[in-house]
Amino acid sequence: MSALLVNIDHIATLRNARGEGVPDPAEGARICESNGARGIVFHLREDRRHIKDADVWKLKKIVTGVLDFEMAATDEMIGLSLEVNPDLVTLVPEKRMELTTEGGLNLAVASNDLRNRVVPQYKGTGIIISLFVDPEVHDMEQSANLGVEAVELHTGTYAHAFIKGEYQHELDRLAAAAERAHALGMLVNAGHGLNFSNMPAFLEHVPHLNDISIGHALMCDALFEGLPTVVRRMADLIERHNI
Ligand code: PXP
Repeated sequence: MSALLVNIDHIATLRNARGEGVPDPAEGARICESNGARGIVFHLREDRRHIKDADVWKLKKIVTGVLDFEMAATDEMIGLSLEVNPDLVTLVPEKRMELTTEGGLNLAVASNDLRNRVVPQYKGTGIIISLFVDPEVHDMEQSANLGVEAVELHTGTYAHAFIKGEYQHELDRLAAAAERAHALGMLVNAGHGLNFSNMPAFLEHVPHLNDISIGHALMCDALFEGLPTVVRRMADLIERHNI
Protein backbone atom coordinates (compact mmCIF):
# COMPACT_ATOMS: atom_id res chain seq x y z
CA MET A 1 0.00 0.00 0.00
CA SER A 2 1.20 3.51 -0.79
CA ALA A 3 1.75 5.93 2.06
CA LEU A 4 3.39 9.23 2.85
CA LEU A 5 6.82 9.69 4.37
CA VAL A 6 7.45 13.33 5.30
CA ASN A 7 10.92 14.74 4.79
CA ILE A 8 11.50 17.13 7.70
CA ASP A 9 14.87 18.60 6.56
CA HIS A 10 13.47 22.07 6.06
CA ILE A 11 12.13 22.31 9.59
CA ALA A 12 15.82 22.12 10.48
CA THR A 13 16.67 24.72 7.80
CA LEU A 14 14.32 27.17 9.54
CA ARG A 15 15.62 26.26 12.99
CA ASN A 16 19.23 26.77 11.86
CA ALA A 17 18.43 30.24 10.48
CA ARG A 18 18.32 31.46 14.08
CA GLY A 19 20.73 28.96 15.58
CA GLU A 20 18.31 28.27 18.39
CA GLY A 21 16.12 25.30 19.22
CA VAL A 22 12.91 26.02 17.33
CA PRO A 23 11.28 24.75 15.26
CA ASP A 24 12.42 21.31 16.39
CA PRO A 25 12.46 18.71 13.58
CA ALA A 26 11.60 15.98 16.09
CA GLU A 27 8.45 17.86 17.15
CA GLY A 28 7.63 18.24 13.44
CA ALA A 29 8.07 14.51 13.03
CA ARG A 30 5.68 13.85 15.89
CA ILE A 31 3.03 16.09 14.32
CA CYS A 32 3.47 14.43 10.89
CA GLU A 33 3.14 10.96 12.35
CA SER A 34 0.06 11.83 14.37
CA ASN A 35 -1.59 13.17 11.21
CA GLY A 36 -1.31 10.23 8.86
CA ALA A 37 2.31 10.02 7.74
CA ARG A 38 3.63 6.46 7.68
CA GLY A 39 7.03 7.73 8.63
CA ILE A 40 9.76 10.33 8.47
CA VAL A 41 12.69 10.99 6.15
CA PHE A 42 15.76 13.03 6.99
CA HIS A 43 18.84 13.66 4.85
CA LEU A 44 22.00 14.02 6.91
CA ARG A 45 24.33 15.85 4.56
CA GLU A 46 28.09 15.88 4.80
CA ASP A 47 27.96 19.66 5.46
CA ARG A 48 25.13 19.28 8.06
CA ARG A 49 23.35 22.23 6.47
CA HIS A 50 19.96 21.24 7.87
CA ILE A 51 19.69 18.05 9.93
CA LYS A 52 22.44 17.72 12.57
CA ASP A 53 23.71 14.57 14.26
CA ALA A 54 21.77 15.35 17.45
CA ASP A 55 18.53 15.52 15.39
CA VAL A 56 19.21 12.02 14.06
CA TRP A 57 19.29 10.52 17.55
CA LYS A 58 16.23 12.47 18.65
CA LEU A 59 14.33 11.27 15.57
CA LYS A 60 15.43 7.70 16.23
CA LYS A 61 13.88 8.02 19.70
CA ILE A 62 10.63 9.72 18.73
CA VAL A 63 9.64 8.25 15.34
CA THR A 64 7.28 5.31 15.76
CA GLY A 65 6.68 4.51 12.06
CA VAL A 66 9.16 4.14 9.23
CA LEU A 67 12.44 6.00 9.74
CA ASP A 68 14.23 6.67 6.44
CA PHE A 69 17.86 7.81 6.69
CA GLU A 70 18.69 9.46 3.38
CA MET A 71 22.42 9.77 2.80
CA ALA A 72 25.39 9.60 0.49
CA ALA A 73 27.20 6.26 0.69
CA THR A 74 30.27 7.63 2.46
CA ASP A 75 32.08 5.59 5.12
CA GLU A 76 31.04 8.19 7.72
CA MET A 77 27.33 7.93 6.86
CA ILE A 78 27.38 4.15 6.55
CA GLY A 79 28.95 3.90 10.02
CA LEU A 80 26.42 6.27 11.55
CA SER A 81 23.44 4.62 9.87
CA LEU A 82 24.53 1.22 11.17
CA GLU A 83 24.61 2.68 14.69
CA VAL A 84 21.25 4.43 14.32
CA ASN A 85 19.62 1.36 12.75
CA PRO A 86 16.75 3.04 10.82
CA ASP A 87 14.14 0.99 8.95
CA LEU A 88 15.35 2.27 5.61
CA VAL A 89 18.55 3.75 4.22
CA THR A 90 18.02 5.65 0.98
CA LEU A 91 21.27 6.16 -0.89
CA VAL A 92 21.51 9.35 -2.93
CA PRO A 93 24.24 11.11 -4.88
CA GLU A 94 25.35 14.22 -3.01
CA LYS A 95 27.18 17.24 -4.37
CA ARG A 96 28.43 19.96 -2.05
CA MET A 97 27.18 22.91 -4.08
CA GLU A 98 23.72 21.55 -4.99
CA LEU A 99 20.63 23.14 -3.44
CA THR A 100 18.88 19.76 -3.38
CA THR A 101 19.53 16.26 -4.73
CA GLU A 102 19.74 16.81 -8.47
CA GLY A 103 19.17 13.34 -9.91
CA GLY A 104 19.35 9.63 -9.31
CA LEU A 105 22.50 7.62 -8.68
CA ASN A 106 24.67 7.00 -11.72
CA LEU A 107 24.66 3.22 -11.48
CA ALA A 108 27.03 2.81 -14.43
CA VAL A 109 29.65 4.47 -12.22
CA ALA A 110 28.49 3.49 -8.72
CA SER A 111 27.52 -0.18 -9.16
CA ASN A 112 30.86 -1.78 -8.34
CA ASP A 113 31.34 0.32 -5.23
CA LEU A 114 27.77 -0.35 -4.09
CA ARG A 115 28.18 -4.09 -4.67
CA ASN A 116 31.60 -4.46 -3.06
CA ARG A 117 31.79 -1.82 -0.32
CA VAL A 118 28.30 -0.60 0.55
CA VAL A 119 25.54 -3.22 0.27
CA PRO A 120 27.44 -6.01 2.11
CA GLN A 121 27.74 -3.83 5.23
CA TYR A 122 23.95 -3.91 5.66
CA LYS A 123 23.54 -7.67 5.22
CA GLY A 124 21.82 -9.20 8.22
CA THR A 125 21.06 -5.82 9.85
CA GLY A 126 17.36 -5.73 8.85
CA ILE A 127 17.87 -2.26 7.33
CA ILE A 128 16.25 -1.99 3.90
CA ILE A 129 18.50 -0.38 1.29
CA SER A 130 16.75 1.81 -1.25
CA LEU A 131 18.60 3.33 -4.22
CA PHE A 132 17.45 6.74 -5.44
CA VAL A 133 17.45 6.24 -9.20
CA ASP A 134 16.12 7.85 -12.34
CA PRO A 135 13.00 6.11 -13.68
CA GLU A 136 14.80 4.01 -16.30
CA VAL A 137 14.05 0.31 -16.76
CA HIS A 138 17.77 -0.40 -17.06
CA ASP A 139 18.39 1.22 -13.65
CA MET A 140 15.75 -1.06 -12.12
CA GLU A 141 17.58 -4.09 -13.51
CA GLN A 142 20.94 -2.86 -12.26
CA SER A 143 19.46 -2.15 -8.82
CA ALA A 144 17.96 -5.64 -8.60
CA ASN A 145 21.33 -7.09 -9.63
CA LEU A 146 22.91 -5.35 -6.66
CA GLY A 147 20.55 -7.22 -4.35
CA VAL A 148 18.81 -4.17 -2.84
CA GLU A 149 15.23 -4.49 -1.61
CA ALA A 150 13.94 -1.12 -2.81
CA VAL A 151 14.36 1.73 -5.25
CA GLU A 152 13.17 5.31 -4.88
CA LEU A 153 12.11 6.64 -8.27
CA HIS A 154 13.31 10.19 -8.86
CA THR A 155 10.18 12.19 -9.65
CA GLY A 156 11.92 15.55 -10.06
CA THR A 157 11.94 15.45 -13.88
CA TYR A 158 8.21 14.67 -13.84
CA ALA A 159 7.62 17.58 -11.43
CA HIS A 160 9.44 19.98 -13.78
CA ALA A 161 7.61 18.62 -16.83
CA PHE A 162 4.30 19.04 -15.00
CA ILE A 163 4.93 22.78 -14.61
CA LYS A 164 5.43 23.03 -18.40
CA GLY A 165 2.22 21.03 -19.01
CA GLU A 166 3.97 18.32 -21.05
CA TYR A 167 4.39 15.45 -18.66
CA GLN A 168 2.81 12.31 -20.17
CA HIS A 169 6.19 11.01 -21.31
CA GLU A 170 7.56 11.34 -17.78
CA LEU A 171 4.55 9.55 -16.31
CA ASP A 172 5.07 6.74 -18.83
CA ARG A 173 8.75 6.46 -17.86
CA LEU A 174 7.82 6.32 -14.16
CA ALA A 175 5.11 3.72 -14.79
CA ALA A 176 7.43 1.49 -16.85
CA ALA A 177 10.18 1.73 -14.22
CA ALA A 178 7.71 0.97 -11.42
CA GLU A 179 6.38 -2.09 -13.29
CA ARG A 180 9.89 -3.41 -13.85
CA ALA A 181 11.07 -2.77 -10.28
CA HIS A 182 7.97 -4.49 -8.91
CA ALA A 183 8.39 -7.47 -11.27
CA LEU A 184 11.96 -7.79 -10.03
CA GLY A 185 10.66 -8.03 -6.45
CA MET A 186 11.72 -4.61 -5.21
CA LEU A 187 9.67 -2.09 -3.24
CA VAL A 188 8.84 0.98 -5.33
CA ASN A 189 9.36 4.21 -3.41
CA ALA A 190 9.27 7.63 -5.04
CA GLY A 191 10.02 11.24 -4.32
CA HIS A 192 11.26 14.69 -5.22
CA GLY A 193 9.24 17.73 -6.24
CA LEU A 194 5.86 16.14 -5.54
CA ASN A 195 3.05 18.45 -4.45
CA PHE A 196 -0.74 18.79 -4.34
CA SER A 197 -0.88 19.75 -8.05
CA ASN A 198 1.20 16.95 -9.55
CA MET A 199 0.27 14.12 -7.16
CA PRO A 200 -3.16 13.16 -8.59
CA ALA A 201 -1.83 12.32 -12.09
CA PHE A 202 1.19 10.63 -10.55
CA LEU A 203 -0.90 8.39 -8.30
CA GLU A 204 -3.28 7.64 -11.16
CA HIS A 205 -0.60 6.49 -13.62
CA VAL A 206 2.21 4.93 -11.62
CA PRO A 207 1.52 1.46 -10.18
CA HIS A 208 2.94 -0.42 -7.19
CA LEU A 209 3.87 2.67 -5.17
CA ASN A 210 5.06 2.07 -1.62
CA ASP A 211 6.61 4.99 0.32
CA ILE A 212 6.21 8.44 -1.21
CA SER A 213 8.65 10.95 0.19
CA ILE A 214 7.64 14.62 0.21
CA GLY A 215 9.31 17.52 1.95
CA HIS A 216 9.62 21.00 0.49
CA ALA A 217 6.08 21.42 -0.87
CA LEU A 218 4.49 20.30 2.40
CA MET A 219 6.64 22.69 4.42
CA CYS A 220 5.72 25.57 2.06
CA ASP A 221 2.00 24.79 2.30
CA ALA A 222 2.21 24.35 6.07
CA LEU A 223 3.72 27.81 6.36
CA PHE A 224 1.02 29.60 4.41
CA GLU A 225 -1.85 27.53 5.75
CA GLY A 226 -0.65 28.15 9.30
CA LEU A 227 0.19 31.85 8.86
CA PRO A 228 -3.40 33.18 9.06
CA THR A 229 -3.96 31.37 12.37
CA VAL A 230 -0.86 32.64 14.12
CA VAL A 231 -1.08 36.18 12.76
CA ARG A 232 -4.70 36.40 13.91
CA ARG A 233 -3.73 35.08 17.36
CA MET A 234 -0.93 37.60 17.84
CA ALA A 235 -2.97 40.52 16.45
CA ASP A 236 -5.79 39.59 18.86
CA LEU A 237 -3.39 39.39 21.80
CA ILE A 238 -2.05 42.89 21.05
CA GLU A 239 -5.55 44.25 20.49
CA ARG A 240 -6.72 42.91 23.85
CA HIS A 241 -3.86 44.81 25.46
CA ASN A 242 -5.27 48.05 23.96
CA ILE A 243 -8.66 47.67 25.62
N1 PXP B 1 13.63 11.93 -2.07
C1 PXP B 1 14.92 12.28 -2.13
C2 PXP B 1 15.92 11.21 -2.43
C3 PXP B 1 15.34 13.60 -1.90
O1 PXP B 1 16.64 13.93 -1.96
C4 PXP B 1 14.37 14.56 -1.57
C5 PXP B 1 14.79 15.96 -1.26
O2 PXP B 1 15.47 16.00 -0.06
C6 PXP B 1 13.03 14.16 -1.52
C7 PXP B 1 12.68 12.84 -1.79
C8 PXP B 1 11.93 15.12 -1.18
O3 PXP B 1 11.87 16.07 -2.18
P1 PXP B 1 11.00 17.38 -1.97
O4 PXP B 1 11.60 18.13 -0.83
O5 PXP B 1 11.13 18.09 -3.27
O6 PXP B 1 9.60 16.93 -1.66
